[in-house]
Amino acid sequence: MADPTVPSIQVHPDPATVARHAVTRVAELLAQAIELGGTGSLCLAGGSTPKAMYELFAKGDVPVDWSKVHVFFGDERTVPPDHADSNYRMAKQAFLDAIDIPATNVHRMRGEADPEEAAGEYDALLRGHFGDDRGMDVMLLGMGDDGHTASLFPHTTALDVTDRLCVSNRVDKLDTTRITLTVPFINRSGQTLVLVTGENKTQVLDTVLTGEADPREHPILLINPPAGTLHFSMDTAAAGM
Ligand code: 6PG
Repeated sequence: MADPTVPSIQVHPDPATVARHAVTRVAELLAQAIELGGTGSLCLAGGSTPKAMYELFAKGDVPVDWSKVHVFFGDERTVPPDHADSNYRMAKQAFLDAIDIPATNVHRMRGEADPEEAAGEYDALLRGHFGDDRGMDVMLLGMGDDGHTASLFPHTTALDVTDRLCVSNRVDKLDTTRITLTVPFINRSGQTLVLVTGENKTQVLDTVLTGEADPREHPILLINPPAGTLHFSMDTAAAGM
């Protein structure tokens, strides 16, 4: 495996500051992408950490020309879009309903469908949008306290996939199946921003950032975009400060 990209790291005093910096950075990156190519692509992370950032997008303090942005999802739970566990529902309520973005620019993973079918559809969508070698302009990721990211969980089959951009992934520890982007596709991204907050992440973050860990045990370590940047933004609690 290629040497992990050395990530840049920024520590902020609290989750709200992490969110504010992330929104400003993402807005800048999307504006650059739009300037360069006419549109920008933003991949959303699920879970709870990014919600504060999405709510700031809804407030509109940091301008984004959403008419020129395509929004994608890094992973989805196998639930309907109106289910409490749906990453799409979280993003919809946090900001997608509040911003002026064409419905056709929001690309949802169909968590309600058969996982293999939904993953196949999304794989085809990504190939149609990004072709054979392009990736997301901005990739947002979180990290679980087990070192997973998106729905790339330790020792799951999705970690070894090299010929797909999106797959269904059986996660025995959660007794569920997820839909997730694959490592090769995530590693095509231009700017990858990993948001980590909370003292429950201190241990795993220390393990991951010392670079001694096993990527199969801590799949976030598989994220090393060769032609992009990798940035960890965390609060002092997660940093153990
Ligand atoms: C999901 C996310 C997942 C998340 C981590 C961290 O669907 O849950 O995509 O990868 O980013 O589990 O979640 P928290 O931010 O809630 O700790």
